[in-house]
Amino acid sequence: MIAVGPQDRVFVLTGAGISAESGIATFRGAGGLWQGYRVEEVACPEAWARDPRLVWQFYSMRRQAAGDKKPNPGHFALARLEERLGERLVVCTQNVDELHELAGSRRVLHMHGRLFQSRCDRCDRAPFEDHNTYQDQAPRCHCGGLIRPHICWFGEMPYELDRIDDELEQCTVFVAVGTSGVVYPAAGLVARARVKGVRAYYVGPEEPANSGLFSQCFYGKAGELLPGLFVTTQDTEGRRRH
Ligand code: OAD
Repeated sequence: MIAVGPQDRVFVLTGAGISAESGIATFRGAGGLWQGYRVEEVACPEAWARDPRLVWQFYSMRRQAAGDKKPNPGHFALARLEERLGERLVVCTQNVDELHELAGSRRVLHMHGRLFQSRCDRCDRAPFEDHNTYQDQAPRCHCGGLIRPHICWFGEMPYELDRIDDELEQCTVFVAVGTSGVVYPAAGLVARARVKGVRAYYVGPEEPANSGLFSQCFYGKAGELLPGLFVTTQDTEGRRRH
């Protein structure tokens, strides 16, 4: 159990594992996305410069694969926790799918971007919603630049870092869910929380690479563990009354 008191602020970092039970492939390990593709060919600025068509084929495939996926009990458990905690909970996700929002979460920071948004690779036009798939060539912006996926590629700076800093600074409980702990800066957030003396928990079926930094690891599937994992003070009082 993870106890959340009335003064606590909870920072949840999610990774591909929380969407695994919704049928979206994780990146590493057997059947992972990076088994079929090389990062250097589809997920870095050099790949985009070399072959934007191939990059768009990869992200079009991911758009098609994610399009009909539904949130699972893990996503819903975090949305319900936000209903209880309000602004005292934030979900910082490395995932580019929309499943946290579809489950009802509102305070979501997408540090690696969003699969269903695109942006220009030249002008500073804001990222825009885009559900299209592109097989033949990359579409062009009115400025002449190429429209690219709004995804943080390897070698690029993740998004929302200022807000992540603010939330991390204020949190008193840190929970990582379904992330292998090998991609930075996300994998380093737990160390920054621990330096402040924050309690830190991991939820997932396997030991993450940074497991030594957590106060406690809960081994199992997010969809099975998260719905019963958090006890808020209200819950405790409610039980005492009965
Ligand atoms: P990984 O594929 O590296 O790790 C997925 C984690 O989810 C593993 O630790 C699994 O044990 C765990 N897992 C699998 N099924 C689970 C379940 N049902 N419940 C909970 N956990 C489960 O994915 P990430 O750590 O998210 O970046 O990868 C981080 C980043 O690397 C991604 O955002 C992506 C990737 O390259 C970019 O594309 C920039």
